[in-house]
Amino acid sequence: MFKDKDNRHVVSIRDFSQEDLLGFVDITERIKGNQADYATELENKKMARLFYSASTRTFETHGEAMRRLGGEADLGFRSTEGTSAKKGESLASTLRMYERYGADVIVLRHPRDGSARYATDIVNKAWVINGGDGNNEHPTQNLMDIFTINEKKGKLKGLNIVFFGDLRYGRTTRLVYPMSLFEGNSFIFLSHPAVSMPDHVKDYLKGVGARFEECYDPSKFPDIIHEADIAYGSRNQEERWAREGTTDGDLMRKEVRGRIVLTKGIINWAKPKENFIVMHPLPKDMKAPCITDDVEETPYCWYDEQAENGVYARMGILYSQFNDWWLDG
Ligand code: CP
Repeated sequence: MFKDKDNRHVVSIRDFSQEDLLGFVDITERIKGNQADYATELENKKMARLFYSASTRTFETHGEAMRRLGGEADLGFRSTEGTSAKKGESLASTLRMYERYGADVIVLRHPRDGSARYATDIVNKAWVINGGDGNNEHPTQNLMDIFTINEKKGKLKGLNIVFFGDLRYGRTTRLVYPMSLFEGNSFIFLSHPAVSMPDHVKDYLKGVGARFEECYDPSKFPDIIHEADIAYGSRNQEERWAREGTTDGDLMRKEVRGRIVLTKGIINWAKPKENFIVMHPLPKDMKAPCITDDVEETPYCWYDEQAENGVYARMGILYSQFNDWWLDG
């Protein structure tokens, strides 16, 4: 199903064709509607979760998805605290060890861009899921977002999507890659210039002929929301900005924090389309949120549904991968 170099890992959302994405949506819908039918699918299969940086949702939902499919998710760690990474052990050594302990699938979150791709060169039998690698990608978040959009909108094409907030360091906004595969979608990137969508993403979009615009003016937010089908917020990824106490870091925090913020007032003023939704991968940073809490009082807030779909989407991914790979292999 998924077409990475070994036809088994989930490393980049760009490895997925439109056919792969529609197949994924279809199987995930079937699983969500009939969970009991899939309760023993992954019996005797083991997941290791190796999380070198913080997570709540990605860590929990992969484990929960594995358990609901009858597999085990006991191996691994959700923080390097107390592990031999603190003694200087390499990622390669750790991956080899968990594979020898019986991991059939390894979910890796790591602060370094490209770490998941690197991991695929280390493992022999296990397959790798990228649970977020630095500023680069978070493909399973993109898959759950696609599932959520299709569930709510009944389609993946002809949508006007505004991405706002930290688009440079917010890897979940790479949702534009798969959404650009569907006809008639258009994108607006609303951000401070210091955290604008990276050039390499815009170059990709130009290459595939996708329609997009950039905007740095917060006063345009109501007009943009008025025309949008989906508003997708991205938290300021301050943990990946220059450190506080440095000139660059302090200037960035002063300039960027609080600059692009979606509020209930903006939404009400904008008079959005009836089926408009606000998405966010979560967590929101309560120190400097890109969406205020009062948006949750509106009928447009959709990020709790989105987060719940993380379990079903990861069940869809695991089921598809194990079936395709184990049958073919
Ligand atoms: N959306 C997401 O990746 O959340 P966590 O960082 O909590 O895993």
